[in-house]
Amino acid sequence: MQPLLYETLVPFYHLLDPLEDHAEEGAEFGDVLREAVPGAKSLLELGAGAGHGAYYVKRGFTETVLNDLSAPMLARSAALNPDCAHVEGDMRTLRLGRSFDVVLIHDAITYLTTPDALGEAAATAFAHLRPGGAALLVPDCTVESFVESHEDHSGDDPARSLRALAWSHDPVPGDGMHVVDFAFLLREGAGEVQALHDRHVHGLYPEATWLEVLGGAGFAVESVRRPLPEEYRGGPYTETMFLCRKAP
Ligand SMILES: C[S@@+](CC[C@H](N)C(=O)[O-])C[C@H]1O[C@@H](n2cnc3c(N)ncnc32)[C@H](O)[C@@H]1O
Repeated sequence: MQPLLYETLVPFYHLLDPLEDHAEEGAEFGDVLREAVPGAKSLLELGAGAGHGAYYVKRGFTETVLNDLSAPMLARSAALNPDCAHVEGDMRTLRLGRSFDVVLIHDAITYLTTPDALGEAAATAFAHLRPGGAALLVPDCTVESFVESHEDHSGDDPARSLRALAWSHDPVPGDGMHVVDFAFLLREGAGEVQALHDRHVHGLYPEATWLEVLGGAGFAVESVRRPLPEEYRGGPYTETMFLCRKAP
């Protein structure tokens, strides 16, 4: 079952994760991919969510296809990115029957909670790349970077208000997962404030597992430095991302 944030709470999503926060990183992901594949024109993002990152990454590509498991998140992305095609589906099994120059999987990859599931997503990326293409995988954290932490968020628009606490912790150390428990206080218009708990379960792997799984999918893998946004420092986030090349 998907977290509430990607289903009933999608109308509040932009208050938790504002579009502008993706500008710098989105541009940098695009630069890394174009440097890896000079002349790249087509981009597939798996798990593109609300399309906030894609809004910036897509610049410089002539064709962008965005995938996600959540129909409401895709609908939000379609409103923001009307120039992109949107495809609902699970990144572990998606097969579009065509290839792209580059593939991006950003934070959605953290929702794959076993190395086998990670391998299936890597196989999807591989299957959608032309020879000589490259995929960039950007996990939120690894075993090496993880620390228990919490963040608070707030946002308002004319129709809604959100206050939230996101607590990243690891209830069962060593089980390959951690959780982010969100405590939401939400208000629509002048209505009553509603309190909700939303648990997000994430995979938590050492860098060695990432390298092994991605290599096992057929990629030549390189760890590259992630330009971590300033507000992420001190949290569980890793400064490593994985550039995966498919042989020409
Ligand atoms: C944090 S959101 C992504 C936000 C996105 N980076 C953005 O810029 O808007 C995580 C997304 O992963 C998606 N997701 C989780 N598991 C997935 C899967 N197996 N296949 C495709 N999408 C998945 C969720 O539906 C959710 O939209």
